[in-house]
Amino acid sequence: MFPILLFLLLPYVFQSTSARTFSNWTDVDALLAFKESISNQRGGILDAWNASTKFCQWPGVSCSIKHKHRVTVLNLTSEGLGGTITPSIGNLTFLKTLDLSLNNLHGEMPSSIGLLSHLQHLDLSNNSLHGNIDTGFKNCTSLENIYLGANQFTGEISPWLRGLSSLKVINLMKNKFTGTIPPSVINLSALQTVDFTLNQLQGPIPEGLGRITSLTKIQLGGNHLSGIIPTTFFNLSSLTAFVVPKNELHGELPPNLGDRLPKLEHLLLGGNHFTGSLPASLVNATEMYTIDVSSNNFTGKLPREIGMLCPDYLSLQMNQLTATTPQDWEFMTFLTNCTRLGTLNLFFNNFVGMLPSSVANLSAQLQVLDVSHNQISGNIPSGISNLAGLNQLFLQDNQFTGALPDNIGSLNLLQILYFSGNLLTGSLPSSLGNMTRLIQLTAANNKFGGPLPTSLGSLWEITEADFTNNVFTGPLPKEIFNLSSLSNLLDISNNYFIGPLPPEIGSLTNLESLYASWNNLSGPLPDELSNCQSLTELWLDHNSFSGSIPSSISKMRGLTSLDLTKNTLAGVIPRELSLMGGIEELYLAQNNLSGHIPESMENMASLYRLDLSLNHLDGKVPSRGVFSNASGFLFGGNLGLCGGISELHFPSCPTESMGHGLRKHHFITTVVAPIIAGIILCMSLMLLFFTMKKKSKGRSTTSEQVVEGFRLMDVVYPRVTYAELVQGTSGFALDNLIGAGRYGSVYKCRLLLKEKMAPVAVKVFDLQEAGSCKSFLAECEALSKIRHRNLVSLITCCSSSGSNQDDFKAIMLEFMPNGSLDRWLHMDVQTYHQLQGGMTLMQRLNITVDIADAVDYLHNSCEPQVIHCDLKPSNILLGEDFVAHIGDFGLAKILSEPDAEQPINSKSSVGIRGTIGYVAPGK
Ligand SMILES: *[C@@H]1O[C@H](CO)[C@@H](O)[C@H](O)[C@H]1NC(C)=O
Ligand SMILES: *[C@@H]1O[C@H](CO)[C@@H](O)[C@H](O)[C@H]1NC(C)=O
Ligand SMILES: *[C@@H]1O[C@H](CO)[C@@H](O)[C@H](O)[C@H]1NC(C)=O
Ligand SMILES: *[C@@H]1O[C@H](CO)[C@@H](O)[C@H](O)[C@H]1NC(C)=O
Ligand SMILES: *[C@@H]1O[C@H](CO)[C@@H](O)[C@H](O)[C@H]1NC(C)=O
Ligand SMILES: *[C@@H]1O[C@H](CO)[C@@H](O)[C@H](O)[C@H]1NC(C)=O
Ligand SMILES: *[C@@H]1O[C@H](CO)[C@@H](O)[C@H](O)[C@H]1NC(C)=O
Repeated sequence: MFPILLFLLLPYVFQSTSARTFSNWTDVDALLAFKESISNQRGGILDAWNASTKFCQWPGVSCSIKHKHRVTVLNLTSEGLGGTITPSIGNLTFLKTLDLSLNNLHGEMPSSIGLLSHLQHLDLSNNSLHGNIDTGFKNCTSLENIYLGANQFTGEISPWLRGLSSLKVINLMKNKFTGTIPPSVINLSALQTVDFTLNQLQGPIPEGLGRITSLTKIQLGGNHLSGIIPTTFFNLSSLTAFVVPKNELHGELPPNLGDRLPKLEHLLLGGNHFTGSLPASLVNATEMYTIDVSSNNFTGKLPREIGMLCPDYLSLQMNQLTATTPQDWEFMTFLTNCTRLGTLNLFFNNFVGMLPSSVANLSAQLQVLDVSHNQISGNIPSGISNLAGLNQLFLQDNQFTGALPDNIGSLNLLQILYFSGNLLTGSLPSSLGNMTRLIQLTAANNKFGGPLPTSLGSLWEITEADFTNNVFTGPLPKEIFNLSSLSNLLDISNNYFIGPLPPEIGSLTNLESLYASWNNLSGPLPDELSNCQSLTELWLDHNSFSGSIPSSISKMRGLTSLDLTKNTLAGVIPRELSLMGGIEELYLAQNNLSGHIPESMENMASLYRLDLSLNHLDGKVPSRGVFSNASGFLFGGNLGLCGGISELHFPSCPTESMGHGLRKHHFITTVVAPIIAGIILCMSLMLLFFTMKKKSKGRSTTSEQVVEGFRLMDVVYPRVTYAELVQGTSGFALDNLIGAGRYGSVYKCRLLLKEKMAPVAVKVFDLQEAGSCKSFLAECEALSKIRHRNLVSLITCCSSSGSNQDDFKAIMLEFMPNGSLDRWLHMDVQTYHQLQGGMTLMQRLNITVDIADAVDYLHNSCEPQVIHCDLKPSNILLGEDFVAHIGDFGLAKILSEPDAEQPINSKSSVGIRGTIGYVAPGK
């Protein structure tokens, strides 16, 4: 009886770490050592790795059927593991599958993994592992799949690629591997998939790679590979993906490309230096799904056969492809048979002639059509309004003539519509008002006339509307000024609009830039302008606005540029203007302003350009601030000014003595007047210079347009993937953690936004915490509505399936390089030295004003009204130049009804409750 009992108990005894006798204990030891090296597993999956179950039944572990106590599978993908990988893992010598992908592991890959001679499948992708792999996979002769993507591995790949004769898949994407692809890859004779995307590899693509006949997918994009595509590649008849964008490859494609690679599904060559023409034989690659040959130097006509290929995605932009005659355009007619076509990009080529009317018969699935930046002429085919699936339509910078088709409004899924920079005439069709999902509308630089249709007032989602440089007439329709969705731009400048600015302008509470320069607008500046609290640029110059400058204009504390040049404004410069602490450029020239220059204007810390010339100002010129720099202050034509810094050569002010009247008069006529006349001349020239410079700033130059071409795709809201966040935070690495709170953590993240790597702050919500999901939604909604120079601004919200199929929610905010105010106020000696001293009195004052502005905005100007409830130095974040931003709406309350008397209590509130703070670095 007793021996039987012992036998039954044995498995449990063996699994306790206390007894170690037999060799079959090493696997449990290695597993326990693995658990030991994982840092953050309280409450995680590894809690179940304990003596109460057999280790072969531990989650993520499977054992061999033959050798009962040998681990063959260790799969802990997406379990949020932090810490390092223990070298003991090399003792799991029966291991066939090791999958630790999508975790936060850091440190190096232990070289003992290279001893696992049974290993077939290795996946360490999406972690923060680093170091080189030089010791390699010497004993891993069975290895079939290697996934090391999205880590920070370095070093060359040539030393360790040798000898993996069973290798089928190698994926090293998004690492920092350097050096060349070794010619010895030819020995990897079973290879099917190679993915070296986004590394720093250079040199040629080795010819030997093309001799591995089993290859089906080659992905080498985003490296520095040079040379030509070796001809061996055109013998890979099983190849389905040839993806090498953004390298420095050159050469021509062989005419029979499509015949030799008949299985090709994805051909991506964009951003290289390829030349020659696109081979018509591509038509024989009948499985083709994606073609992107953009940003190369392909020339010649587009073979019409391209249209028989029927890819889903066809990107030919930024080449020198041509089409002149209707025959050359025949590819378009052929494309109409492609029912799956979703994207057609032809922009920045040399397409000339008429857009064939067959464009109207393209797939109803077509979402993106971009023919911009060519020389296409003739009318816009009216049938284009049949393309019911269109989401983005780019026709800008061509030579289209005639009117916009009347029925264009039936494209009611459109979000982006650009037809600027053509020769279009007539008035805008009122059907435009049916595009109720439109986010961006650009009609600029055409010859449109007539009034703006009032139906534009139905574009409830529009954020950007540009009508500049046309010949529009009539009064401004008040409906447009009711569109509170307008947040980026409203440009009606350089037209012939008449009448007043409608008071509805006060609804544009989210708008950043409003340009109405060079029209015939008249009447007083409406007081309601002061509701436009998000405005940073307001240009109303070259109109006929009259009356005085309303002092309420100073409530727009976010303004950085205000231009009222050449109107008929009269009265004094309101003293309150000097409260606009953020303003950098202020143009009040060529009006009828009189009286003194308010002395407080010398305290406007950011102001570096002030133009008061050609008014009737008199009295003392202040001498500090903008007035201290003769090149930033223009004043010509104001004959009564005196004082100021000596470089301005004003007479001193007649305060002290009245006894020298005669002498003074003589002095003025003989000395001062000629000087002033000279100065006026200079100033007028400078004025002209400034005006021209400003105008050219408003209009993009050709090189900027090129950049714009790239940007068009992500204009709406930056889309950020989970993978990008993992990459940008090095797998949410501790190094990047800048704060934590009840609902989750805040990381510094480097992201590609608008073609630029930029740091942002990412709040990642811990959705285990009750209420955090609700608070995410509420905060996203609220932050997307409130916007102010002194509030931390929202970049985007991210809600998706995360690594372990759980929901993942994060909010991306502007990154504040100077940390919290708290850090500056209460610093220890070490920090003091690190920060090179404290803040100046001026900086402190400015911060106080900034905070007051922001609170004023939240309480009085913002809808819904927001009460912060937790204003303290640690929640005040300092941006560049120490501009203060209020962050952490963790305890804030939203008054959901703008006119509600009481804050809704926390129980019934859907407002922001307990969002985690964006705690700045150093906290
Ligand atoms: C360990 O191996 C021995 C002999 O190979 C075997 O009898 C024993 O059952 C194994 N251990 C466990 C825990 O089963
Ligand atoms: C690991 O497990 C996940 C799901 O639990 C599965 O999707 C994945 O394919 C497994 N990995 C391997 C290499 O089998
Ligand atoms: C592997 O197992 C051996 C015993 O077989 C042990 O001495 C060694 O420490 C283990 N290696 C690691 C790295 O744990
Ligand atoms: C690994 O391979 C080397 C030769 O490359 C050999 O000497 C060694 O015994 C092997 N080790 C294991 C654990 O298989
Ligand atoms: C295209 O060719 C022109 C002239 O040869 C050259 O200046 C330009 O850099 C080339 N563009 C690309 C993308 O290779
Ligand atoms: C496509 O393949 C057929 C049969 O091999 C060939 O006759 C034809 O010329 C090819 N088409 C093109 C455009 O190369
Ligand atoms: C479109 O397909 C039909 C039937 O498959 C065919 O008859 C017609 O010629 C094709 N048209 C074009 C332009 O390829």
